[in-house]
Amino acid sequence: MPAEKSDALVLFGATGDLAHKKLFDTIQALYRRGVLEGPVIGVAKSGMTREQVIDRAREGITTFGRGVDEGVFKKFADQFQYVDGDYADPATFQNLKKALGDAKRPLFYLAIPPVLFGTVTKGLKAAGCLNDDARVVVEKPFGHDAASAKALNRTLHEVLEEHQVFRIDHYLGKEATQNVLYTRFANAFLEPVWNRNYISNIQITMAESFGVQGRGAFYDATGCLRDVIENHLMQVVGFLCMEPPYWPDKERVRDEQVKLFKSIRTISTNDIVRGQFEGYLQEPGVAPNSQTETFAAVRVFIDNWRWQGVPIYIRAGKNLPVSATEVRVQFHRPPQVVFPDEQAPMHNYVRFLFSPRIEIGICMQVKIDGERMVGEPMELKVVDQQPDEMTPYERLIGDAIQGDQALFARQDVVEEGWRIVEKIIGNSVPVHPYKPGTWGPDAVNDVLLPSGGWHAPQV
Ligand code: BG6
Repeated sequence: MPAEKSDALVLFGATGDLAHKKLFDTIQALYRRGVLEGPVIGVAKSGMTREQVIDRAREGITTFGRGVDEGVFKKFADQFQYVDGDYADPATFQNLKKALGDAKRPLFYLAIPPVLFGTVTKGLKAAGCLNDDARVVVEKPFGHDAASAKALNRTLHEVLEEHQVFRIDHYLGKEATQNVLYTRFANAFLEPVWNRNYISNIQITMAESFGVQGRGAFYDATGCLRDVIENHLMQVVGFLCMEPPYWPDKERVRDEQVKLFKSIRTISTNDIVRGQFEGYLQEPGVAPNSQTETFAAVRVFIDNWRWQGVPIYIRAGKNLPVSATEVRVQFHRPPQVVFPDEQAPMHNYVRFLFSPRIEIGICMQVKIDGERMVGEPMELKVVDQQPDEMTPYERLIGDAIQGDQALFARQDVVEEGWRIVEKIIGNSVPVHPYKPGTWGPDAVNDVLLPSGGWHAPQV
Protein backbone atom coordinates (compact mmCIF):
# COMPACT_ATOMS: atom_id res chain seq x y z
CA MET A 1 0.00 0.00 0.00
CA PRO A 2 1.52 3.38 -0.95
CA ALA A 3 2.49 5.57 2.02
CA GLU A 4 0.22 8.51 2.77
CA LYS A 5 1.34 11.99 1.78
CA SER A 6 2.79 14.35 4.36
CA ASP A 7 0.23 17.01 5.23
CA ALA A 8 2.57 19.79 6.41
CA LEU A 9 6.15 20.78 5.63
CA VAL A 10 8.26 22.24 8.44
CA LEU A 11 11.42 23.95 7.30
CA PHE A 12 14.14 24.34 9.93
CA GLY A 13 16.71 26.87 8.77
CA ALA A 14 13.99 28.84 6.97
CA THR A 15 16.07 32.01 6.85
CA GLY A 16 19.31 30.24 5.87
CA ASP A 17 21.18 30.12 2.60
CA LEU A 18 19.82 26.82 1.28
CA ALA A 19 16.23 27.85 1.91
CA HIS A 20 16.88 31.20 0.27
CA LYS A 21 18.62 29.87 -2.81
CA LYS A 22 16.91 26.53 -3.40
CA LEU A 23 14.18 25.39 -1.04
CA PHE A 24 11.54 28.11 -1.44
CA ASP A 25 11.84 27.78 -5.21
CA THR A 26 11.36 24.03 -4.77
CA ILE A 27 8.37 24.60 -2.48
CA GLN A 28 6.72 26.83 -5.07
CA ALA A 29 7.25 24.14 -7.73
CA LEU A 30 5.81 21.45 -5.45
CA TYR A 31 2.68 23.54 -4.85
CA ARG A 32 2.38 24.12 -8.57
CA ARG A 33 2.47 20.39 -9.31
CA GLY A 34 0.01 19.68 -6.49
CA VAL A 35 2.53 17.44 -4.69
CA LEU A 36 2.55 19.75 -1.69
CA GLU A 37 -0.90 20.73 -0.49
CA GLY A 38 -0.63 21.42 3.23
CA PRO A 39 0.93 24.43 4.92
CA VAL A 40 4.63 25.25 5.16
CA ILE A 41 5.93 26.29 8.56
CA GLY A 42 9.32 27.97 8.70
CA VAL A 43 11.46 27.75 11.84
CA ALA A 44 14.63 29.76 12.51
CA LYS A 45 16.21 32.09 14.98
CA SER A 46 16.44 35.30 13.02
CA GLY A 47 14.21 37.85 14.76
CA MET A 48 12.33 38.23 11.46
CA THR A 49 8.56 38.44 11.16
CA ARG A 50 6.41 36.09 9.07
CA GLU A 51 6.06 38.80 6.41
CA GLN A 52 9.80 39.39 6.26
CA VAL A 53 10.44 35.67 5.74
CA ILE A 54 7.84 35.61 2.95
CA ASP A 55 9.54 38.62 1.33
CA ARG A 56 12.88 36.88 1.59
CA ALA A 57 11.41 33.74 -0.01
CA ARG A 58 10.08 35.88 -2.87
CA GLU A 59 13.47 37.50 -3.31
CA GLY A 60 15.24 34.11 -3.29
CA ILE A 61 12.90 32.66 -5.91
CA THR A 62 13.39 35.75 -8.09
CA THR A 63 17.16 35.89 -7.80
CA PHE A 64 18.17 32.22 -7.65
CA GLY A 65 15.10 30.28 -8.72
CA ARG A 66 12.75 30.14 -11.65
CA GLY A 67 10.79 33.32 -10.93
CA VAL A 68 7.69 33.93 -8.85
CA ASP A 69 4.44 32.42 -10.10
CA GLU A 70 2.04 34.86 -8.41
CA GLY A 71 -0.94 32.53 -8.14
CA VAL A 72 1.09 29.67 -6.68
CA PHE A 73 3.14 31.96 -4.45
CA LYS A 74 -0.06 33.36 -2.96
CA LYS A 75 -1.20 29.85 -2.10
CA PHE A 76 2.12 29.32 -0.30
CA ALA A 77 2.11 32.74 1.42
CA ASP A 78 -1.51 32.49 2.61
CA GLN A 79 -0.78 29.24 4.44
CA PHE A 80 2.78 30.05 5.55
CA GLN A 81 3.52 30.28 9.27
CA TYR A 82 6.77 31.23 10.91
CA VAL A 83 8.12 30.23 14.31
CA ASP A 84 11.07 32.30 15.50
CA GLY A 85 13.07 30.80 18.34
CA ASP A 86 16.15 29.09 19.65
CA TYR A 87 16.41 25.36 18.91
CA ALA A 88 17.59 24.76 22.47
CA ASP A 89 14.44 26.39 23.91
CA PRO A 90 11.46 24.03 24.49
CA ALA A 91 9.12 27.00 23.89
CA THR A 92 10.15 27.00 20.20
CA PHE A 93 8.83 23.47 19.82
CA GLN A 94 5.66 24.23 21.80
CA ASN A 95 4.98 27.08 19.37
CA LEU A 96 5.68 24.78 16.46
CA LYS A 97 3.27 22.20 17.89
CA LYS A 98 0.56 24.88 17.97
CA ALA A 99 1.37 25.94 14.42
CA LEU A 100 1.09 22.32 13.24
CA GLY A 101 -2.52 22.25 14.43
CA ASP A 102 -4.10 18.98 13.41
CA ALA A 103 -1.45 17.96 10.85
CA LYS A 104 -1.05 14.19 11.17
CA ARG A 105 1.95 13.47 8.98
CA PRO A 106 4.38 16.39 9.09
CA LEU A 107 7.60 16.36 7.08
CA PHE A 108 10.45 18.11 8.91
CA TYR A 109 13.25 19.39 6.70
CA LEU A 110 16.47 20.05 8.63
CA ALA A 111 18.36 22.60 6.53
CA ILE A 112 20.62 23.29 9.51
CA PRO A 113 24.15 22.30 10.57
CA PRO A 114 24.35 18.60 11.50
CA VAL A 115 25.50 19.45 15.05
CA LEU A 116 21.94 20.67 15.63
CA PHE A 117 20.16 17.55 14.34
CA GLY A 118 20.06 15.94 17.79
CA THR A 119 18.84 19.09 19.56
CA VAL A 120 16.05 19.57 17.04
CA THR A 121 14.85 15.97 16.84
CA LYS A 122 14.82 15.67 20.64
CA GLY A 123 13.00 19.02 20.89
CA LEU A 124 10.40 17.73 18.41
CA LYS A 125 9.96 14.51 20.35
CA ALA A 126 9.62 16.27 23.72
CA ALA A 127 6.96 18.62 22.37
CA GLY A 128 4.97 15.72 20.92
CA CYS A 129 5.56 16.73 17.27
CA LEU A 130 6.99 13.37 16.24
CA ASN A 131 4.45 10.64 15.71
CA ASP A 132 5.08 7.40 13.76
CA ASP A 133 4.00 9.03 10.50
CA ALA A 134 6.35 12.00 10.82
CA ARG A 135 9.28 12.13 8.39
CA VAL A 136 12.58 13.93 8.72
CA VAL A 137 14.79 15.03 5.83
CA VAL A 138 18.43 15.75 6.69
CA GLU A 139 20.86 17.68 4.55
CA LYS A 140 24.43 16.67 3.79
CA PRO A 141 27.13 16.51 5.01
CA PHE A 142 26.07 13.40 6.87
CA GLY A 143 29.02 13.20 9.23
CA HIS A 144 32.64 13.88 8.36
CA ASP A 145 33.92 10.31 8.78
CA ALA A 146 32.60 6.85 9.61
CA ALA A 147 32.57 7.45 13.38
CA SER A 148 30.70 10.76 13.20
CA ALA A 149 28.18 9.35 10.68
CA LYS A 150 27.51 6.45 13.06
CA ALA A 151 27.13 8.87 15.98
CA LEU A 152 24.72 11.00 13.95
CA ASN A 153 22.69 7.93 13.05
CA ARG A 154 22.52 6.89 16.71
CA THR A 155 21.32 10.39 17.60
CA LEU A 156 18.55 10.32 14.99
CA HIS A 157 17.55 6.80 15.92
CA GLU A 158 17.03 7.79 19.55
CA VAL A 159 13.73 9.29 18.44
CA LEU A 160 13.17 8.09 14.85
CA GLU A 161 12.91 4.79 13.02
CA GLU A 162 15.00 4.37 9.86
CA HIS A 163 11.84 4.48 7.70
CA GLN A 164 11.31 8.06 8.93
CA VAL A 165 14.79 9.33 8.01
CA PHE A 166 15.43 10.77 4.53
CA ARG A 167 19.15 11.58 3.96
CA ILE A 168 19.27 13.78 0.92
CA ASP A 169 21.95 13.43 -1.75
CA HIS A 170 20.80 15.51 -4.68
CA TYR A 171 22.76 13.40 -7.16
CA LEU A 172 20.28 10.60 -6.57
CA GLY A 173 17.49 12.96 -7.66
CA LYS A 174 19.12 13.77 -10.98
CA GLU A 175 17.50 12.51 -14.12
CA ALA A 176 20.96 11.64 -15.46
CA THR A 177 21.75 9.38 -12.48
CA GLN A 178 18.50 7.50 -12.89
CA ASN A 179 19.20 7.23 -16.61
CA VAL A 180 22.31 5.20 -15.81
CA LEU A 181 20.31 2.61 -13.92
CA TYR A 182 17.54 2.58 -16.48
CA THR A 183 19.80 2.29 -19.52
CA ARG A 184 21.74 -0.56 -17.98
CA PHE A 185 18.80 -2.70 -17.04
CA ALA A 186 16.18 -1.79 -19.64
CA ASN A 187 18.39 -3.10 -22.47
CA ALA A 188 19.47 -6.69 -22.91
CA PHE A 189 22.55 -5.95 -25.01
CA LEU A 190 24.49 -3.95 -22.43
CA GLU A 191 24.51 -6.27 -19.44
CA PRO A 192 26.44 -9.13 -21.11
CA VAL A 193 29.38 -6.77 -21.75
CA TRP A 194 29.08 -4.72 -18.54
CA ASN A 195 31.87 -6.47 -16.68
CA ARG A 196 35.61 -7.07 -16.38
CA ASN A 197 35.71 -9.20 -19.55
CA TYR A 198 34.82 -6.23 -21.76
CA ILE A 199 35.39 -3.10 -19.73
CA SER A 200 38.89 -1.76 -19.30
CA ASN A 201 38.20 1.14 -16.93
CA ILE A 202 35.61 3.67 -15.92
CA GLN A 203 36.24 7.39 -15.62
CA ILE A 204 34.06 9.86 -13.79
CA THR A 205 34.83 13.56 -14.05
CA MET A 206 32.96 16.22 -12.12
CA ALA A 207 34.49 19.51 -13.13
CA GLU A 208 33.46 22.97 -11.98
CA SER A 209 34.91 26.04 -13.65
CA PHE A 210 34.25 28.23 -10.59
CA GLY A 211 35.86 28.42 -7.16
CA VAL A 212 34.32 28.18 -3.70
CA GLN A 213 31.86 31.02 -4.32
CA GLY A 214 31.90 32.60 -0.87
CA ARG A 215 31.57 29.22 0.89
CA GLY A 216 35.20 29.32 2.03
CA ALA A 217 34.57 28.45 5.70
CA PHE A 218 32.33 25.46 4.85
CA TYR A 219 34.59 24.28 2.05
CA ASP A 220 37.79 24.58 4.05
CA ALA A 221 36.40 22.27 6.72
CA THR A 222 35.12 19.85 4.08
CA GLY A 223 37.33 19.56 0.99
CA CYS A 224 36.56 18.05 -2.38
CA LEU A 225 36.62 14.43 -1.28
CA ARG A 226 33.96 14.90 1.40
CA ASP A 227 32.02 17.50 -0.56
CA VAL A 228 31.29 15.55 -3.72
CA ILE A 229 33.28 12.31 -4.10
CA GLU A 230 32.37 10.36 -0.96
CA ASN A 231 28.67 11.04 -1.51
CA HIS A 232 27.53 12.23 -4.96
CA LEU A 233 30.05 10.42 -7.14
CA MET A 234 30.07 7.22 -5.10
CA GLN A 235 26.29 7.06 -5.52
CA VAL A 236 26.91 7.26 -9.26
CA VAL A 237 29.41 4.39 -8.98
CA GLY A 238 26.67 2.46 -7.22
CA PHE A 239 24.21 2.87 -10.09
CA LEU A 240 26.89 2.13 -12.68
CA CYS A 241 28.13 -1.04 -11.06
CA MET A 242 25.37 -2.63 -8.95
CA GLU A 243 23.68 -5.91 -9.79
CA PRO A 244 20.14 -5.74 -11.20
CA PRO A 245 17.71 -4.82 -8.45
CA TYR A 246 14.29 -6.38 -8.07
CA TRP A 247 12.34 -3.24 -8.98
CA PRO A 248 8.77 -3.79 -7.76
CA ASP A 249 10.20 -3.51 -4.27
CA LYS A 250 12.16 -0.25 -4.55
CA GLU A 251 13.99 -0.95 -1.30
CA ARG A 252 15.95 -3.57 -3.25
CA VAL A 253 17.80 -0.77 -5.09
CA ARG A 254 19.29 0.35 -1.81
CA ASP A 255 20.04 -3.28 -0.92
CA GLU A 256 22.02 -3.63 -4.15
CA GLN A 257 23.73 -0.30 -3.51
CA VAL A 258 24.99 -1.42 -0.11
CA LYS A 259 26.00 -4.85 -1.44
CA LEU A 260 28.13 -3.12 -4.04
CA PHE A 261 29.58 -0.63 -1.56
CA LYS A 262 30.58 -3.50 0.73
CA SER A 263 32.68 -4.96 -2.06
CA ILE A 264 34.48 -1.68 -2.80
CA ARG A 265 38.02 -1.79 -1.44
CA THR A 266 38.95 0.88 1.11
CA ILE A 267 40.88 3.38 -1.03
CA SER A 268 44.58 3.42 -0.20
CA THR A 269 46.82 6.47 -0.02
CA ASN A 270 48.51 5.21 -3.24
CA ASP A 271 45.25 5.76 -5.04
CA ILE A 272 44.63 9.44 -4.40
CA VAL A 273 46.08 12.72 -5.64
CA ARG A 274 45.01 15.94 -3.96
CA GLY A 275 45.29 19.44 -5.40
CA GLN A 276 44.55 22.99 -4.33
CA PHE A 277 44.03 25.83 -6.81
CA GLU A 278 46.41 28.76 -6.59
CA GLY A 279 44.64 31.64 -4.88
CA TYR A 280 42.51 29.41 -2.63
CA LEU A 281 44.32 30.58 0.51
CA GLN A 282 43.17 34.14 -0.17
CA GLU A 283 39.48 33.12 -0.20
CA PRO A 284 37.48 34.56 2.73
CA GLY A 285 36.96 31.94 5.44
CA VAL A 286 39.92 29.79 4.37
CA ALA A 287 42.73 29.19 6.91
CA PRO A 288 45.97 30.93 5.82
CA ASN A 289 47.95 27.65 5.77
CA SER A 290 45.07 25.38 4.75
CA GLN A 291 45.93 21.98 3.25
CA THR A 292 42.33 21.34 2.17
CA GLU A 293 41.98 19.92 -1.34
CA THR A 294 39.91 21.70 -3.96
CA PHE A 295 40.67 18.88 -6.41
CA ALA A 296 40.95 15.16 -5.88
CA ALA A 297 41.47 12.18 -8.14
CA VAL A 298 41.04 8.67 -6.79
CA ARG A 299 41.24 5.11 -8.07
CA VAL A 300 38.61 2.73 -6.82
CA PHE A 301 38.51 -1.07 -7.06
CA ILE A 302 35.54 -3.31 -6.60
CA ASP A 303 36.41 -6.74 -5.27
CA ASN A 304 33.61 -8.78 -6.74
CA TRP A 305 33.16 -11.29 -9.56
CA ARG A 306 31.92 -8.70 -12.08
CA TRP A 307 34.46 -5.92 -11.51
CA GLN A 308 37.65 -7.51 -10.21
CA GLY A 309 40.65 -5.60 -11.60
CA VAL A 310 38.68 -2.84 -13.36
CA PRO A 311 39.91 0.51 -12.06
CA ILE A 312 37.36 3.27 -11.60
CA TYR A 313 38.98 6.69 -11.85
CA ILE A 314 37.14 9.59 -10.28
CA ARG A 315 38.27 13.19 -10.41
CA ALA A 316 36.50 16.31 -9.22
CA GLY A 317 37.52 19.84 -8.54
CA LYS A 318 36.93 23.55 -8.46
CA ASN A 319 38.38 26.02 -10.96
CA LEU A 320 38.85 23.42 -13.68
CA PRO A 321 38.55 24.28 -17.40
CA VAL A 322 34.81 23.55 -17.75
CA SER A 323 31.69 22.88 -15.70
CA ALA A 324 30.59 19.39 -16.63
CA THR A 325 30.01 15.97 -15.12
CA GLU A 326 30.61 12.92 -17.26
CA VAL A 327 31.01 9.16 -16.90
CA ARG A 328 32.93 7.22 -19.52
CA VAL A 329 32.85 3.44 -19.52
CA GLN A 330 35.81 2.37 -21.62
CA PHE A 331 35.88 -1.02 -23.35
CA HIS A 332 38.98 -3.12 -24.03
CA ARG A 333 40.67 -3.04 -27.40
CA PRO A 334 39.81 -5.87 -29.78
CA PRO A 335 42.00 -8.89 -28.94
CA GLN A 336 43.98 -8.87 -32.18
CA VAL A 337 45.24 -6.24 -34.61
CA VAL A 338 43.40 -7.01 -37.85
CA PHE A 339 43.47 -3.54 -39.40
CA PRO A 340 46.58 -1.37 -39.21
CA ASP A 341 44.88 1.69 -37.70
CA GLU A 342 43.86 -0.30 -34.67
CA GLN A 343 46.79 1.13 -32.78
CA ALA A 344 44.68 4.28 -32.49
CA PRO A 345 43.40 5.15 -29.01
CA MET A 346 40.61 3.01 -27.67
CA HIS A 347 37.33 4.18 -29.11
CA ASN A 348 34.70 1.85 -27.77
CA TYR A 349 32.96 3.46 -24.88
CA VAL A 350 29.63 4.39 -23.41
CA ARG A 351 29.45 7.98 -22.23
CA PHE A 352 26.93 9.46 -19.84
CA LEU A 353 27.04 13.27 -19.72
CA PHE A 354 25.21 14.50 -16.61
CA SER A 355 25.66 18.22 -17.10
CA PRO A 356 25.44 20.80 -18.64
CA ARG A 357 23.21 18.64 -20.89
CA ILE A 358 22.09 15.08 -20.49
CA GLU A 359 23.61 12.82 -23.12
CA ILE A 360 24.24 9.15 -23.57
CA GLY A 361 26.64 8.25 -26.35
CA ILE A 362 27.99 4.95 -27.57
CA CYS A 363 31.20 5.12 -29.57
CA MET A 364 32.43 2.64 -32.15
CA GLN A 365 35.27 2.60 -34.64
CA VAL A 366 33.76 2.54 -38.15
CA LYS A 367 35.30 2.29 -41.59
CA ILE A 368 35.93 5.45 -43.60
CA ASP A 369 34.51 5.34 -47.09
CA GLY A 370 37.16 4.25 -49.59
CA GLU A 371 39.54 1.47 -50.57
CA ARG A 372 41.65 1.42 -47.43
CA MET A 373 40.61 -0.46 -44.32
CA VAL A 374 40.97 2.48 -41.99
CA GLY A 375 38.39 3.92 -39.70
CA GLU A 376 37.35 6.68 -37.41
CA PRO A 377 35.47 6.84 -34.13
CA MET A 378 31.78 7.53 -34.54
CA GLU A 379 29.52 8.24 -31.63
CA LEU A 380 25.89 7.28 -31.67
CA LYS A 381 24.02 9.68 -29.43
CA VAL A 382 21.11 7.85 -27.94
CA VAL A 383 19.98 10.57 -25.54
CA ASP A 384 20.44 14.30 -25.97
CA GLN A 385 18.27 16.51 -23.80
CA GLN A 386 18.30 19.61 -21.68
CA PRO A 387 18.13 18.97 -17.94
CA ASP A 388 14.63 18.23 -16.81
CA GLU A 389 12.48 21.07 -15.61
CA MET A 390 12.06 19.19 -12.37
CA THR A 391 15.15 19.89 -10.26
CA PRO A 392 16.71 17.12 -8.14
CA TYR A 393 15.46 18.87 -4.99
CA GLU A 394 11.94 18.97 -6.34
CA ARG A 395 12.07 15.30 -7.21
CA LEU A 396 13.50 14.29 -3.84
CA ILE A 397 11.35 16.45 -1.57
CA GLY A 398 8.35 15.29 -3.62
CA ASP A 399 9.40 11.69 -2.93
CA ALA A 400 9.82 12.43 0.80
CA ILE A 401 6.34 13.99 0.93
CA GLN A 402 5.06 10.75 -0.58
CA GLY A 403 7.09 8.61 1.80
CA ASP A 404 9.26 7.06 -0.93
CA GLN A 405 12.79 6.46 0.35
CA ALA A 406 14.27 4.73 -2.71
CA LEU A 407 16.35 7.76 -3.77
CA PHE A 408 17.63 8.63 -0.29
CA ALA A 409 20.83 7.34 1.23
CA ARG A 410 20.18 4.58 3.75
CA GLN A 411 22.18 4.41 6.97
CA ASP A 412 24.22 1.36 5.92
CA VAL A 413 25.08 2.95 2.55
CA VAL A 414 26.27 6.14 4.24
CA GLU A 415 28.43 4.22 6.70
CA GLU A 416 29.98 2.09 3.93
CA GLY A 417 30.62 5.28 1.93
CA TRP A 418 32.71 6.67 4.77
CA ARG A 419 34.51 3.34 5.25
CA ILE A 420 35.60 3.43 1.59
CA VAL A 421 37.37 6.80 2.04
CA GLU A 422 38.49 6.44 5.67
CA LYS A 423 42.21 6.15 4.86
CA ILE A 424 42.30 9.10 2.49
CA ILE A 425 40.20 11.84 4.08
CA GLY A 426 41.94 14.81 5.65
CA ASN A 427 45.58 15.49 4.96
CA SER A 428 46.38 11.86 4.17
CA VAL A 429 48.70 12.75 1.29
CA PRO A 430 50.33 16.06 0.31
CA VAL A 431 48.26 18.59 -1.54
CA HIS A 432 49.73 19.87 -4.85
CA PRO A 433 49.03 23.36 -6.19
CA TYR A 434 47.41 23.78 -9.61
CA LYS A 435 46.62 26.77 -11.77
CA PRO A 436 42.96 27.76 -12.05
CA GLY A 437 41.61 26.70 -15.42
CA THR A 438 43.72 23.53 -15.65
CA TRP A 439 42.87 19.86 -15.04
CA GLY A 440 44.44 19.78 -11.59
CA PRO A 441 48.04 19.11 -10.57
CA ASP A 442 50.47 17.28 -12.90
CA ALA A 443 50.82 14.59 -10.26
CA VAL A 444 47.49 13.19 -11.45
CA ASN A 445 49.06 12.09 -14.70
CA ASP A 446 52.13 10.72 -12.93
CA VAL A 447 50.24 8.69 -10.36
CA LEU A 448 46.71 8.06 -11.59
CA LEU A 449 46.68 7.80 -15.36
CA PRO A 450 43.97 5.57 -16.82
CA SER A 451 45.07 3.43 -19.77
CA GLY A 452 44.11 5.57 -22.78
CA GLY A 453 44.48 8.72 -20.66
CA TRP A 454 42.00 11.02 -18.97
CA HIS A 455 39.21 12.27 -21.19
CA ALA A 456 37.80 15.73 -20.81
CA PRO A 457 33.99 15.76 -20.78
CA GLN A 458 32.54 16.32 -24.25
CA VAL A 459 30.64 19.55 -23.83
C1 BG6 B 1 27.12 20.28 -3.69
C2 BG6 B 1 28.50 20.73 -3.29
O1 BG6 B 1 26.68 19.20 -2.91
O2 BG6 B 1 27.13 19.90 -5.06
C3 BG6 B 1 28.98 21.85 -4.18
O3 BG6 B 1 28.51 21.14 -1.94
C4 BG6 B 1 28.87 21.47 -5.63
O4 BG6 B 1 30.34 22.20 -3.87
C5 BG6 B 1 27.47 20.94 -5.94
O5 BG6 B 1 29.15 22.63 -6.41
C6 BG6 B 1 27.39 20.42 -7.36
O6 BG6 B 1 26.09 20.05 -7.71
P1 BG6 B 1 25.62 20.04 -9.21
O7 BG6 B 1 24.22 19.50 -9.16
O8 BG6 B 1 25.69 21.44 -9.71
O9 BG6 B 1 26.57 19.13 -9.96
